[in-house]
Amino acid sequence: MTDTSLLFTPVRLGDVTLKNRIALAPMTRNRSPGGIPTDLNALYYAQRASAGLLITEGTTPDAGGRGYIDIPGLYDAAQVAGWKKVADAVHAKGGRIFAQVMHTGRISHPDFLDGGTPVAPSAIAAAGTIITREGPKPLPVPRALDAAEIPAIIATYGRAARLAVEAGLDGVEIHGANGYLPSQFLATNANQRTDEWGGSVENRARFLLGAVAAAAEAIGPGRVGLRVNPGGTFNDVADTDGAATLTHIATALSGKGLAYLHLVGGAYDYDAAGIARRHFDGPLMLNGGYDAARAEADLAAKRADVISFGVPFLANPDLPERLRLGVALNAPDPSTFYGGDSRGYTDYPALPAAAE
Ligand SMILES: Cc1cc2nc3c(=O)[nH]c(=O)nc-3n(C[C@H](O)[C@H](O)[C@H](O)COP(=O)(O)O)c2cc1C
Repeated sequence: MTDTSLLFTPVRLGDVTLKNRIALAPMTRNRSPGGIPTDLNALYYAQRASAGLLITEGTTPDAGGRGYIDIPGLYDAAQVAGWKKVADAVHAKGGRIFAQVMHTGRISHPDFLDGGTPVAPSAIAAAGTIITREGPKPLPVPRALDAAEIPAIIATYGRAARLAVEAGLDGVEIHGANGYLPSQFLATNANQRTDEWGGSVENRARFLLGAVAAAAEAIGPGRVGLRVNPGGTFNDVADTDGAATLTHIATALSGKGLAYLHLVGGAYDYDAAGIARRHFDGPLMLNGGYDAARAEADLAAKRADVISFGVPFLANPDLPERLRLGVALNAPDPSTFYGGDSRGYTDYPALPAAAE
């Protein structure tokens, strides 16, 4: 059996103390019709409340940031009421939960925007298709944001953070990874701007750092985390120097009292975890293909303070207990990842109570 003695020690992330170092990684599940979290969503998160921290699926801070079927939002009263059900259910089981704030930018389609055109730093379409209610469609050419519009979009991150706390959630994670709007600004291919929002790394990071600052201003930095993966290529972004981008972001956010920095797992062509550790003074969360042994080893080596688990946690509502006991995990069913009902969502079995 793997030693999990560090995984099950408490840790402080900003204003929030976690009972263990296991987080639920953010995962879009496309089960919030109209952008409003449901009782079923509340059950899904409450089932996983034994994590030290739950990070929700990507949640848009603005109607203009909608990008997939039935993803939740955090910009109106009905959504806040839905999130309150989620927060209450998780807290009743002793959990902690941050909402991931995700403006999809050009990874959208007029079908999700009442016929409107998605926005992005530049009028450059991402390669590929997006699944709409009518099936896959090519990603459209977005509209380049006017510089005068950008501060209002950044402000929606502050509003979303305020509404998250109003709903009783414990904080927010800004989604700065995977080719969504802040990551589009960071990218050297998707961002061809020549104003103060493009060009140098300082300029390309201005949107992301502005979004983090807006959220921190609204609810305090100790309730704000950030997820990034500079140099990642998901959703057709590219960065000619991901290491320099991460160094800049980590340095800029150091000393600010943020809850944590969270690196998406995956292949980096540089030592992302090492750079984050060297240049960021707050807690670091690592992710991607972890099992208990690797998680424990990275905690022991002080490479990370918290480990987030995606697919294993999706398929195992009691993942922390299974890691602690070293028992077998349920197999995930990818056909029910994105959309549908309770099947493949809230019906993955937990261990029988007798094993506890
Ligand atoms: C169904 C699914 C949905 C995902 N949605 C998001 C998302 O909304 N935001 C995000 O930052 N990452 C998202 N991811 C990436 C995961 O957070 C995580 O980085 C990835 O699954 C790798 O971690 P793992 O090996 O522990 O699963 C998603 C992954 C999956 C499988």
